[in-house]
Amino acid sequence: MDSPAPVAPARKRLVDYRPPDWLVPEMALRFELDAERTLVHARMRVRRNGAHASALQLDGEELELLSLAVNGVVRPVNAAPEGLVLEIDGDEALIETVVAIRPAANSRLMGLYSSGGNLCTQCEAEGFRRITFFPDRPDVLSRYQVRLEADAARYPVLLANGNPGAAGALPDGRHFAEWDDPFPKPSYLFALVAGDLQALEDAFVTLSGRTVKLGIWVAAADVPRCRHAMESLKASMAFDEQVYGREYDLDVFNIVAVHDFNFGAMENKGLNIFNAKYVLADPDTATDWDYDAIAAIVAHEYFHNWSGNRVTCRDWFQLSLKEGFTVFRDQQFSAHIGSAAVKRIEGVRQLRASQFPEDEGPLAHAVRPESYAEISNFYTATVYDKGAELIRMMATRLGAAKFRAATDRYFADNDGTAATVEDFLAAMQSQGLESELFRRWYEQPGTPRVAVQATHADGRLELLIRQSNPKLPGAAPLPIPLRFALFAADGRKLLERDDLLLTDAETRLSIEGIAEAPILSLNRGFAAPILIEPAPRRDELLVLAAHEDDPFARYEAVQQLMLSALTASAAGGVAIGHDEVVEAARALLAKAGDDPAFVAETLLLPSEALIGDRMPIVDPEAIHAAREELRCSLLSALREPLWAAWRGCDAPEGQAPRAKGLRRLKGILLSLLLADDGAEATAAAFGQFSGAANMTDRMSALTALSHSQGAERDDALRLFAARYDLLPEVLDKWFLAQSSSTRPDTRAVVEALAQHPRFDARNPNRLRALVLGFAMNQTRFHDRDGAGYALLAGHVLTADRINPQSAARLVQPLARWRRLAEPWRPLMRAELERIAHTPGLSRDLTEVVTTSLS
Ligand code: PHE
Ligand code: ZN
Repeated sequence: MDSPAPVAPARKRLVDYRPPDWLVPEMALRFELDAERTLVHARMRVRRNGAHASALQLDGEELELLSLAVNGVVRPVNAAPEGLVLEIDGDEALIETVVAIRPAANSRLMGLYSSGGNLCTQCEAEGFRRITFFPDRPDVLSRYQVRLEADAARYPVLLANGNPGAAGALPDGRHFAEWDDPFPKPSYLFALVAGDLQALEDAFVTLSGRTVKLGIWVAAADVPRCRHAMESLKASMAFDEQVYGREYDLDVFNIVAVHDFNFGAMENKGLNIFNAKYVLADPDTATDWDYDAIAAIVAHEYFHNWSGNRVTCRDWFQLSLKEGFTVFRDQQFSAHIGSAAVKRIEGVRQLRASQFPEDEGPLAHAVRPESYAEISNFYTATVYDKGAELIRMMATRLGAAKFRAATDRYFADNDGTAATVEDFLAAMQSQGLESELFRRWYEQPGTPRVAVQATHADGRLELLIRQSNPKLPGAAPLPIPLRFALFAADGRKLLERDDLLLTDAETRLSIEGIAEAPILSLNRGFAAPILIEPAPRRDELLVLAAHEDDPFARYEAVQQLMLSALTASAAGGVAIGHDEVVEAARALLAKAGDDPAFVAETLLLPSEALIGDRMPIVDPEAIHAAREELRCSLLSALREPLWAAWRGCDAPEGQAPRAKGLRRLKGILLSLLLADDGAEATAAAFGQFSGAANMTDRMSALTALSHSQGAERDDALRLFAARYDLLPEVLDKWFLAQSSSTRPDTRAVVEALAQHPRFDARNPNRLRALVLGFAMNQTRFHDRDGAGYALLAGHVLTADRINPQSAARLVQPLARWRRLAEPWRPLMRAELERIAHTPGLSRDLTEVVTTSLS
């Protein structure tokens, strides 16, 4: 039976921001920890903020209030479940509360919850209100003193923010530990962990000579798999000192890995909590990709200690102030420890895979959104990755020395406060940045288009450069740094410009002394997050692919060749442009040994999703067919060089960049060799799988085999499952390999796996591997009967009753319905409608669904 479509939930607006009525300078917490029922005793000193007569409002969610006293006077506990409103005489007061909470029953993984028998917290963005009554907003900063009490056998380790204090035994087999955090912080940075954990320990001596004790806490058996995370942590600490002058500020820094976690990791002050998949690694269980992701996320969370914790956000609209900046900082770190060119290519690929489509679709929002219903829905590619691109543009525009001076200024001026994007821009402006213009980037959703018209006559080149934004026609023009170069037809570079800043809707440029009509290479280094339209002609791209000296631009030329062939073929139904792609690939293969990582990235065909993003309307079958056809053309034209290159990819073990590049290339070549599912390649893949000495080779072989019809595929999956049955982060790869398969039986396989004893819809990693993996599978998710959409919708509805944040993320592939051709569009829309008409949806899911349908 149908119920009426849900009303869009109420939205909070940036323009309505008001400073808090009451501040909480001091907060003392005592926890009587227990998985079934934990008691939380809170003592807060509150202070009226300014002259007003408003009551003190405390947020609270699913709290059982047991007692309440104001200035020592007990008040009745008839509180509303969703918060407390207290009339206070005078400008200061002591508020004491005791509440009970139920960690074991907390499946949202927000607040205090149980994971693998341990207790841990997640408070960003609004989880602290699920622990105790508090003004749960980031502009209320408090000094925290915390005492944890728990059963000593079940929870031998008790951790919280700050520095450790007293600890000892209590009656009845219980024990306690006290923690004191001297740095005022917002409630979203609060954390505690209680569990049966062991640490990999180390130490770091800071710039000024202080020794910081480092610990990474995991189950005893996992301690040896923490070494890479520890090395990454120490490298991050050194990097932040050298590049940003930022020193760590507590005596200890702890990381805890948990298996049930909504995101990647969390930067709680002095006590980062991580999704275990971003901590645990050894060559037998983690791919090179995992190693890199661990280093980047360890760095990201560590860097938050300054960009996020010492300087936090005034309100959640400013989220990119900490996230965009910190992503940029972790990208710099990754470029520093690896290959800068390859890191940039990977970063742009990710931006195009997730942020560009978001910015074109119904969920588009500005890097600083104007409104939200549920803030958890705004931890997006736009806030994170486009936000990082904005910082990158500013950093490039200022140059390294001035950018450093500007960030020094930002940290000095805002230390210990909750800041805004304007505060960041003011610091940039102090070094000469055009901050008033750059601010527009924070306010305008949509990917800007830049079109360049070139005319050449009498040794003079005239460029007419126009910017536009289809999401916001007529919007104020953005400052766009446009790096470009001109090339002659024979590949000579004629001119290079790095300093052009477009500030108008139209810019005219006249360049003298250009003897022939040149080839334009635009947006070199991907200096701005824009789309260039139209792409260069295929003959021009071949010249750039061979002669560009900017590695990103060279990569881009090959990608554009592939994209133009693929979109033309998908639209026209006949193979177009294959010869040029083959020629470019042949040239790359000939130089594979020189820079295997670059060749690997460049040879990788654009994904089906990306091809669709470049087409006015998405026909998933035509796109899949066009891509398969190009893979087959490459294989039949280059069979020998592909085999030779694959055989030449034997790499030494270890994480040296060249070894990683060789393994990456080997995997990409193997997948091309399997384009026609031939017996020889299938046997080679199985050989690579069973002979692999590391997870990278094993996994690239398993992934390549996963699409195959051969018996080797079943054997490999069986061997993998037996070997890694007890390691959940590794078994996720097994689920993902099957949900991502292009085989026609994939939907049935996914349905069967949802009944597998190791499937658990409450575990976000597992749910993502199986169900989101399937929804990202452009070939099988879009099966013509719409059954893939129905399968996803069913899981979304189940997830919503367990964990609304998970459900709101899982549903997003359906938000693309408008872009799809018939018959897919109405089928997709119908599933979205079915979800929308289900009673009792969470606010998280309702916001995404109503926005997607509107
Ligand atoms: N702040 C975390 C990060 O990006 C992400 C996160 C948000 C984690 C919300 C958990 C919950 O570093
Ligand atoms: Zn972050």
